Amino acid sequence: MKRRNVIGLALCTSLAAVWFSLQFQTSASEPTVVADEEMKPVDVNMHDFMEGMFQGPYRRLKVAMEKEPTDPQGWKALRSDALILAEGSNLLLIRKPEKDVPDWLKYSVASRDAGAEIIKAAKQKNFAASKEAYVQMLEHCNACHKQFENGKHILKP
Ligand code: HEC
Repeated sequence: MKRRNVIGLALCTSLAAVWFSLQFQTSASEPTVVADEEMKPVDVNMHDFMEGMFQGPYRRLKVAMEKEPTDPQGWKALRSDALILAEGSNLLLIRKPEKDVPDWLKYSVASRDAGAEIIKAAKQKNFAASKEAYVQMLEHCNACHKQFENGKHILKP
């Protein structure tokens, strides 16, 4: 090997060593990330999920929708329950059934978006519009119950 090549090789090796040690230093000074960033359903079955996430807010919202709230607290409670159902519908997207997945996703998205409409209307204290969106949301809930639950749990607005 020529002398020039040997020097070149030595230079490359030491540069590589410096680069590696810098890499090592930065990674060593960063905290170790252990969080699992993927959405992952909590280990409960569909029955317990619907009962735990959907039943309470649905029952409260049903009462709230009987007449227009008279104070800010009433509107806030109404929006809160609509939000739980809307975001709960988002969570259905990571609880796919064994078959007919596209239908499941379609009902979940429709339910979520109708829930968002309730909130939007309630934010403007428009009771008629929020009730209309609520009735629509329940149609999407029921469409899923009809198909995936053989028509059980048909909910009344
Ligand atoms: C994508 C499908 C899907 C959507 C959308 C959906 N559900 Fe359900 N729901 C189910 C299934 C499946 C069950 C039956 C669970 C079981 O008992 O195995 C169920 C059951 C229920 C029950 C009965 C729980 C119990 O105690 O037995 C309630 C209440 C309920 N859903 C409320 C709602 C409401 C309110 C919405 C809309 C905001 C909704 N669901 C939207 C799939 C859905």
